[in-house]
Parts: sequence; structure tokens; C-alpha cells
Amino acid sequence: MSIAPRPPIPELIPESAPFTLEQRTWLNGFFAGLLSLDGVGIKTLSAAESAALMPSLPGMVAPTSGGDDGEAPWHDQTLALAERMKLAEGRPLHRRMMAAMAQQDCGQCGYNCQDYSEALFSKKEARLNLCVPGGKETARMLKTLHQELDSAAPVATMSPTTVAAATAAPAVAPGCSRDSPAEATFLSRARLNKKGSAKETWHIELDLGERIDYTVGDAFGIFPTNDPALADAVIAALNAPADFPIGGRTLRDVLIDGVSLGAAPDMLFQLFSYIAGGERRQKAKALAAGEDPDGDAATIDVLAAIQKFSGVRPDPEAFIEALDPLQPRLYSIASSPKVDRKRLALTVDTVRYQIDSRARLGVASTFLADRIKPGDMLKVYVQKAHAFALPADPAVPIIMIGPGTGVAPFRAFLHERMATKAPGRNWLFFGHQRSNYDFFYEDELAGMKAARVLTRLTLAWSRDGDQKIYVQDRMREVGRDLWAWIAEGAHVYVCGDAKHMAKDVERALIDVIASYGVRSVNDAVAFVADLKQSGRYQQDVY
Ligand SMILES: Cc1cc2nc3c(=O)[nH]c(=O)nc-3n(C[C@H](O)[C@H](O)[C@H](O)COP(=O)(O)OP(=O)(O)OC[C@H]3O[C@@H](n4cnc5c(N)ncnc54)[C@H](O)[C@@H]3O)c2cc1C
Ligand SMILES: NC(=O)c1ccc[n+]([C@@H]2O[C@H](COP(=O)([O-])OP(=O)(O)OC[C@H]3O[C@@H](n4cnc5c(N)ncnc54)[C@H](OP(=O)(O)O)[C@@H]3O)[C@@H](O)[C@H]2O)c1
Repeated sequence: MSIAPRPPIPELIPESAPFTLEQRTWLNGFFAGLLSLDGVGIKTLSAAESAALMPSLPGMVAPTSGGDDGEAPWHDQTLALAERMKLAEGRPLHRRMMAAMAQQDCGQCGYNCQDYSEALFSKKEARLNLCVPGGKETARMLKTLHQELDSAAPVATMSPTTVAAATAAPAVAPGCSRDSPAEATFLSRARLNKKGSAKETWHIELDLGERIDYTVGDAFGIFPTNDPALADAVIAALNAPADFPIGGRTLRDVLIDGVSLGAAPDMLFQLFSYIAGGERRQKAKALAAGEDPDGDAATIDVLAAIQKFSGVRPDPEAFIEALDPLQPRLYSIASSPKVDRKRLALTVDTVRYQIDSRARLGVASTFLADRIKPGDMLKVYVQKAHAFALPADPAVPIIMIGPGTGVAPFRAFLHERMATKAPGRNWLFFGHQRSNYDFFYEDELAGMKAARVLTRLTLAWSRDGDQKIYVQDRMREVGRDLWAWIAEGAHVYVCGDAKHMAKDVERALIDVIASYGVRSVNDAVAFVADLKQSGRYQQDVY
């Protein structure tokens, strides 16, 4: 007996309905089943009808395989990839793809973690290597998961030269997304630490002209260029001509502004494994598979990779194809358009460190600290904050916790509240290493205090004395007042390091609420979860 082919599921839910592709597919199947059972004639539901049905659907996340309750327990930037994947076991593919992301919702890929995974799942996005905090680990996991998509899936990792083609048609106005940058003019940099500081942090100013609009709380994307000296060292190590033509440009130009010279990608080791012989081929293969045969994998950048496999001479074009595209970097905006619509400020910590005898430079931070000159143009865009904004009611009090460069968006908040004469009280927790050297915006904050815009300033210096004092220690010390502000409806904001500080600050807040709000720890945890849910606890962490 032959089995009749299954009829295709009718398209009952219009494309304009507010669902992801996966949700729509599941809903179509769901309604097709219902309608055929009832013998009702099939009609296409309007977007409003299907939206109205939404709350009655289980968790509103459509399982394709395995159950999915819509929760994302892996959505915690402090969990390792293996733990996140374990938590996502048995979930539908798009959820496991989400678990592979670094969970910072940092926006560097142009999405939040959930949207990026859904864009990959629906094949609207083909680039698997966009998660900056997840790095190679996330890209490798996504590559594995991507193989579960049907064979018509787009190529796993886009090469730098194909990225340009994929992003050629901007759907939004210039300056509004990483795929559609605008130009700004670099105005100035001023060192925020005093001489003798262990840190190098710059106040950067840019002129946006008439081109770009932003809101306080947004982040700003910068397209950096690599250090030309590093590009030259790569060219010398490759023993290739600097003017070797690549897609109408020279090898040197592409190395400066087209590709990442940071962590060597798996593809580069794969390329070396095709060319090298004997033991070196095995080593290159192992590195391409994410192994660490010599215990140095974490420190191999592109130049170190060429040096490690010295004598292996890849074709320059194949070499460039094997590298990752140079990605933009995000910075929290430290100014308010209400003060000056065109002038935008950033607070940038410079990344410099040494591996063996070679100085390594953070690409974007040293681009801003060293290489760009006043008057130069640079490619930029605004990354809209998805949940980091001043309260709509200007009378609502705010508590801002921002050690180090975490102070950036709070300078913007204070400027905005000053410019708009917002009556709400403002409390800033700032901390850094040493009070004499690392007190960013000291005069300005003193001025705002005198003007009563900054109601309260609480400082934590980690290296002034024998004992480290962090912002969360200060929060506990002033817990009674902190609770009083929260009980009066204050919104709480945290900005800065994601890995440790953000978690420690949340723990301190829970302790304060438990102690002064007279709640059990469990109730305090639930209270903070409620604050988050209602938008009264917002984080901008990286
Ligand atoms: C939403 C958001 C807002 C941000 N806001 C700010 C901000 O306001 N100010 C700010 O300064 N930054 C901010 N950042 C971080 C910023 O985007 C960059 O990540 C940072 O400037 C480093 O970029 P880079 O290109 O200079 O360094 P990269 O070239 O990206 O190099 C950094 C990498 O170098 C390696 N590395 C760094 N130090 C060491 C070391 N000591 N030893 C070994 N390896 C090391 C690490 O792998 C690290 O990931 C923000 C990030 C996000 C996502
Ligand atoms: N991933 C990490 O491990 C990590 C850690 C710190 C910074 N960073 C990154 O470094 C860049 C620049 O940092 P930054 O200039 O903003 O300053 P920072 O290095 O974050 O330091 C700012 C202040 O925070 C203190 N601090 C360190 N750990 C803390 C914790 N767990 N809780 C509260 N405070 C803590 C520091 O003290 P001490 O330096 O004296 O400890 C310092 O006084 C950022 O991109 C940030 O993400 C990464």
C-alpha cells in the first residue's frame, strides 16, 4: 500500500502577524489541525486575530523538537558555554542556538541573544561569527548547531569579502545599525586618569553633524582600523607583496580595515593544515578543531599563527578569506543630545597588554586613543538600547551604579536630567582603583552636586588602602538609605563589567533588600526579579 504524501500545511497566519518564523510554522500546523478536526472552512487569520489568540498559546514559543516553556535559564553571562548548553538540552534548535550566545545582550552582533538565534534559525542571518563576547567558542558551537538546519542552509561562516555583499542593502537610515553606518568627525580625546594611574581611560568627543540621532542609554558603534604597524608585520611574516591585489584593493589596505588581526580563527589553522606537512599539519588540524596541543591557543593572534607555522606560505587571497571580518565595537554614550545634539562623548578604557615580547593592542580602544586624529572621519552607528533608559517620569528617583567606564551612561543621564530640569533625585555610585588618579569627571560631578542635580555621590576606591573597597561594599554600608530610595520607587541602573561586578552588585542589592526591606533572601530575590520585570532594574554590562 502506498502512503499518500502529506499535504503542505496551509498558511493561515499571515507573514505580517507578530510571530517568528518558527512560531508561525507551529501555529499554522496547530490551526490546520484544529480546523480540519472541526470541519470548518479554512480562512487566513488577520494579524489582529492571530495576535488576539497569542495569550492562549502555551508559553508562546513553538517547539519544533523537544519541549520549550519559553524560559531561558541559560540567559546568564556568568555561566560557561558547557553549562548553558546543558540547560538547553532537549530544547528546540533556536533555543539551543540562543544558549550558545554569550548572554550579554550586548548588541555587538546587531541583535540581542534571542533575536540573533532566531535570525540564524530563520536563515535571515548567515553569519555565525558575530557574537563578540562568545568569540570562537560560540562560533564553533553555532557551526555545529547550524548543521541541524536543512541542507539548503546558507554557508556557515561568511568570509570578510562576502560580508560586504550580504550587508550591501541597508534597510534603515544611515547611522541606525551596524549594517548601515554613517560618518562622524573625531573631535578630541582627553585622559581621564591622572599621571601615575595604572589605567588609561579617555574622554572622547565626536561631531555627529546633522546625520545621527540618539537617546541617552544608547550605545555607539565604532568601526575601527587595525594598527598599520601590525598589518605590516603580518605582510612581512607572510612574505607577500603589500600591494598584492585583493578584490580591487591592496593586501595592506584589506589588512588595515577589512579583517580582524585578533584571535586566529579556526579557518586559518584549517588553511595551514592543507599546506603544512607532517607534525605541523596535525598541529594545525588540532588547533582548527579547537584543541590546544601546545597550551598556547588562547594567545595566538593572526601574526602569532603565521609565526607558529613559519615557512607555510598561503596564497594572500586564500589567507584573507580565512580571516574573520573586522567587527565594530560598542561604547556606552556618555553625553546627552539635550545638551548638544551634535556632540557625542564616550569614555574608553585602552586595552594594552603584553604576550611574550610583543605588545598587543585592543583594536578599537587604541584606534581611539592613538591613531585617529582630530578632523578625521570615522564610520559609526547608534545601537539602540533595548532596556536601558531614564524613567519616563522625570520625577522618579534613580540610583546609578557604575564603576570604571561604567560611569559613561550615567554622565549622560545626569546631563539629560540637568538639561531637562528633571525634578527626580539622582544617586551615583562610582568606584575605581585610586582616588587621586582615577576619579573620572571629578570636577563635573562636584559641579552637579553643587547644582543639586547629583543628589548623592558614593565612592569606592579599590586600591587606596590595604583592603579592596568595591561599589557593592558601599551599597551594603548605606543599605538603609538605598532601601528607602527603592521603596519610594527609584529605578536602579548598573553599568560596567559583566563577568563579576554586575553579579556582585545584584547580590548586594538582594542583601540590602533582605536586611532593610525585612524580607527573606528568597523574597528579596523575587523582589529583584520583579524590579527587573517592571523595568526598574536595568543593566548595561559588557
Ligand atoms: C554595550 C557595550 C558597551 C560598552 N561600553 C564601553 C565603554 O563605555 N567603555 C569601554 O571602554 N568599553 C566599553 N565596551 C567594551 C568595548 O566594546 C570593547 O570591547 C573594548 O573597548 C575592547 O575593544 P578593543 O577593540 O580595544 O579590544 P580587542 O581588540 O577587542 O581586544 C580585547 C580582547 O583582548 C584580550 N585581552 C584584553 N586584555 C588582555 C590581557 N590583559 N591579557 C590577555 N588578553 C587580553 C581579550 O581577549 C579581550 O577580549 C562596551 C561593550 C559593550 C558590548
Ligand atoms: N572580564 C573581566 O574579568 C573584566 C574585569 C574588569 C574589567 N573588565 C573589562 O575591562 C574594561 C575596562 O574596565 P574599566 O576601565 O571599566 O574598569 P574596571 O577594570 O572594570 O575597574 C573599575 C573598578 O571596578 C573594580 N572591580 C573589580 N572587580 C570588581 C567586582 N567584582 N565588583 C565591583 N568592582 C570591581 C576595580 O577594582 P580592581 O581593579 O582594584 O580589582 C576598579 O576599582 C571593560 O571592558 C571591562 O568589561 C573585564
